[in-house]
Amino acid sequence: MKSHWYILFFIPFISSAQNWSENIAPLFYQKCTQCHHTGGIAPTSYLDYQDAVADAASIRVKVQQGKMPPWPPDTTYSRFAHERTLTQQQVDDIVAWVQNGTPEGDTLLAPIPPSYQGVAEIQNPDLVLQIPPFAVNSTGGDVYRCFALPTGLSAQRFISQLEALPGDLSVVHHVLVFSDTSALPLQLDAQDPAPGYSNFGGTGSNSSQLIGVWAPGGGAYTLPNAMGIKLPAGATVVLQVHYPGGITNVTDTTQVRFKFSTTPFTREVFISSPLNHFQLDNGPLAIAPNATPTFYAHYTLPLNVTALGVAPHMHLLGKTITSYAVTPTYDTIPIIHLPNWDFHWQGLYSFPRLLKFPTGTTLYAAASYDNTLNNPNNPNDPPRWTYLGERTTDEMMLVYFVYTYYLQGDENIVQDSSFFAGFESLNHEVVRTVQLYDVFPNPVQERFTVNFFIPEKSDVSMSIIDMEGRKVLDLLDDTFFNAGFHAVEADMGEQPKGLYFVVLSVDGIVRQKKIIHA
Ligand code: HEC
Repeated sequence: MKSHWYILFFIPFISSAQNWSENIAPLFYQKCTQCHHTGGIAPTSYLDYQDAVADAASIRVKVQQGKMPPWPPDTTYSRFAHERTLTQQQVDDIVAWVQNGTPEGDTLLAPIPPSYQGVAEIQNPDLVLQIPPFAVNSTGGDVYRCFALPTGLSAQRFISQLEALPGDLSVVHHVLVFSDTSALPLQLDAQDPAPGYSNFGGTGSNSSQLIGVWAPGGGAYTLPNAMGIKLPAGATVVLQVHYPGGITNVTDTTQVRFKFSTTPFTREVFISSPLNHFQLDNGPLAIAPNATPTFYAHYTLPLNVTALGVAPHMHLLGKTITSYAVTPTYDTIPIIHLPNWDFHWQGLYSFPRLLKFPTGTTLYAAASYDNTLNNPNNPNDPPRWTYLGERTTDEMMLVYFVYTYYLQGDENIVQDSSFFAGFESLNHEVVRTVQLYDVFPNPVQERFTVNFFIPEKSDVSMSIIDMEGRKVLDLLDDTFFNAGFHAVEADMGEQPKGLYFVVLSVDGIVRQKKIIHA
């Protein structure tokens, strides 16, 4: 019994010994520097000790308040894959480090700072569409620019991976990706002499379908194996890019990269908004000056649905938005709660594991708005009547779902394995395709773990390749495994820092995942 007391006493000492080289730099390189580097979207770089120290007081406040890293969903309501959050222990470590005068520690133990410029996660894309060089001038305020990019596809394809790659990370705040089979976006683009055309709420075309959302710090959007979002033959891809105010003459060349499904049969994944401003329980969406109304919507599913993710959307008067589902047996499934809606941090949030909504499940949403001057984002001073529309001064209420029809076992498909401490709770029998899960931790310093699943006993090969496709490490060479989940522990050893891929191959099926060796 006595030894337990020692452990309790020692914990505060351990956390007060935090230093930059061994504790804080590894944490910042994982949680902060994807935005906080020179040329990134954040105003300060935390790649170097000196720069981080110069901002220490502010860092302490922002992490204690939970404002940084930015992660809009309420994690006490529901959890998502790849959450950009700190644990309480990590917050305490940062605070202790600042309180103790930001010690540097032994610089020989510090990891090498990661590099971010132009590193695409999707190598060998099947289609790349890039906007014409666009001179961003936003001294008059935020710019929302749509670019219509013909795909030239002669046959329909299914997108298995999609990645928006900003031309200049310091000026691109979000990218919404749509596909459209009408001629309207191209016409709108042609009418404006500069590249693209201005539109705030969407693309200006009713037939546009959302197919992806990129926010700073986000990498490729990857669908589970054998699932894909349809890109019709002849489709035009429309990128809506948000450039924050205050930029003078910076040229942007944002591109979007696609990988198409190659499996013989691909399950179509849909993105649509069954909860929307056209079907409100207490519509229409009309907001009086100085009012703070809440609008409600619901929708009952006519069939079994597998949900992959969710993306709420409102404009500048939006304050909070919540969505949940109630099954026919009255189980409530919390989906998302955004307690402080911020138009500038839109996201498409993936569930750590796919969710099953059985037939007869009702989806609900409640969205509240603030049309008073207490709302610092109110575009009207004095406040004015605000209605449904696409302009900055209009409003919207949409909850997009990423979904497909349900097949048995879908609820066991994991989108972020690092989220689950162990695999004890997974029902092994029902996942039926080969799965390679995200490496963790990632970025990797030395040791890391790779989890995979095989539906049948097989010989498995696994290797690490570099960006040129050269094999640098063999982890498994035709090694026999029984059906089920398996974990491989490995070590990057003496390999140079940089971007790598882990490649799994099982009976001719090949899967790969990115590794950042930092
Ligand atoms: C997804 C991008 C992103 C990530 C990740 C991120 N930040 Fe930020 N951070 C920003 C942006 C953008 C701003 C400036 C605008 C704002 O405050 O929202 C900012 C502002 C800040 C500020 C205030 C800037 C100042 O002048 O002092 C601090 C402090 C800060 N971040 C700390 C952190 C820390 C610490 C982490 C990691 C634990 C982190 N941030 C992770 C995007 C990010």
